[in-house]
Amino acid sequence: MKFRLFCVLLLMLAQATTNAQNGCPVIPQPALAREVTAGFVLNKNTALIVDDASLLPAANYLQKHLLLQNAIPLSIQPNGIGAYIRLSLTKKMEAESYQLNMNARQIHISGADEASVFYGIISLLQLAATSQNKSGNLMLQCWNIEDRPAYGWRGLMLDESRHFFGIDKVKSILNWMAFYKLNRFHWHLTDEPAWRIEIKNYPQLALVGGIGSYTNPNAPAQFYTQDQIAEIIRYAGERHITVIPEIDMPGHATAANKAYPQFSGGGSEKHPEFTFHPGKEETYNYLTNILREVNALFPSRMLHLGGDEVSFGNDKWLADPDVKQLMARRQFKTVQEVEQYFMQRMADSVYAMNAKLLAWDEVANMNLPKKQTIIFWWRHDKPQQLETTLDNGYQTVLCPRLPFYFDFVQDSTHSVGRKWNKAYSPLEDVYNFNAANQPGVKAANRNQILGVQANVWTETMADNYRLDYMLYPRIAALAETAWSSAERKNYPSFVRNLKQHFLLYNKERINYFNPFKK
Ligand code: ACM
Repeated sequence: MKFRLFCVLLLMLAQATTNAQNGCPVIPQPALAREVTAGFVLNKNTALIVDDASLLPAANYLQKHLLLQNAIPLSIQPNGIGAYIRLSLTKKMEAESYQLNMNARQIHISGADEASVFYGIISLLQLAATSQNKSGNLMLQCWNIEDRPAYGWRGLMLDESRHFFGIDKVKSILNWMAFYKLNRFHWHLTDEPAWRIEIKNYPQLALVGGIGSYTNPNAPAQFYTQDQIAEIIRYAGERHITVIPEIDMPGHATAANKAYPQFSGGGSEKHPEFTFHPGKEETYNYLTNILREVNALFPSRMLHLGGDEVSFGNDKWLADPDVKQLMARRQFKTVQEVEQYFMQRMADSVYAMNAKLLAWDEVANMNLPKKQTIIFWWRHDKPQQLETTLDNGYQTVLCPRLPFYFDFVQDSTHSVGRKWNKAYSPLEDVYNFNAANQPGVKAANRNQILGVQANVWTETMADNYRLDYMLYPRIAALAETAWSSAERKNYPSFVRNLKQHFLLYNKERINYFNPFKK
């Protein structure tokens, strides 16, 4: 008897070891996952028990998505006579971390707050999504999972200035972000081709600035009304995703300058009317009014002001009488000092609104308050810019072009999209990125790294079809890079799980790139 028990235990151990190596069928891979030798049959008789009223939105999310995904209706009940799913809060865990414990009779999801429990629900929904449904009985393999994210910032940026995708597509992206536990949606709403957000104080920004796109300068105006923005923010909030607007300045201001040319600082031959005017006091007033409206709309209390590539179009500054006066008054010698002055002025407006200033890595050399500023390292060819950002004490999000600009192609044979000489951004590179060991990251400043983000610039994506092709499946690799610890990552195991997700993409008619089908 004892020997038999020993053999069974040995077998279970061997199985658990094998499974640990293969990983759990959840993307991103959980911190700890043990397969349990049991199955849970989930059907319409399974009770959903909610221990705390604050978890009702998460419970409703589970109900809705289990119905949509697996055609199983779940009802909330005070207690379970048969098998049940229980959601509860526990003080013992850190923010965003959760436990998912399963056996043949119960599934228990617990976490410190609603977001944590939500992530447990997402893991359960992923297990459900790839399980078999036999006449209304979903056959789940049981797992015990203890999970927490490696990084708190797990971001995706969408550029809707170059091309406008609209509310339905944004919601679809937010759904997939939630499915992969991504939690920051950075919305690039203004740039050269168009301005995409209604500003009530300056209606021409959307009405005139919203005309055109990267591929069609005459496309009728497309933009989000403030009501639609609020709807997206609410939708994202239900998925524990924070939405961060970007109003790019002082460069990339072309569309705004089309609407209100009196605030233009001119441009260059290649980038006409590219900048806001740094030498006019009215410009600061105008932009502060815009930011005040934007800040009131977005509860994130984070305003991304861009600050990138100003040199593309500030040719006219040095010859402008107002800029010359400003330089004389402040004893500025260079155009870079004017640029820094502009950013400093606008940063002061942002801080006065009780918001954080977010900006691209061009601002890393400025002396901004460290606690209220987040810098995005994007120039992969300038690793020293990451080092400077960290050495100067800034909280930093890593989104280097390679591998995180998703307008770079995924395969060497692809021709629609960017390459850097011959370099591009295959799935595996997104997967293998390790924020903690980038050049310039030191043990002393590693904790300033908030996380990673992919940026979907859309010059080469004129419709949903192309957008999908560039975003999927790299979004899944991004998620695992952002959530799972480097030690837990295993590319072959990820690929095995991902292939199952291709079936889900098919169901939703997502036009993903399949790197394994040559
Ligand atoms: C950028 O790609 N200009 C941030």
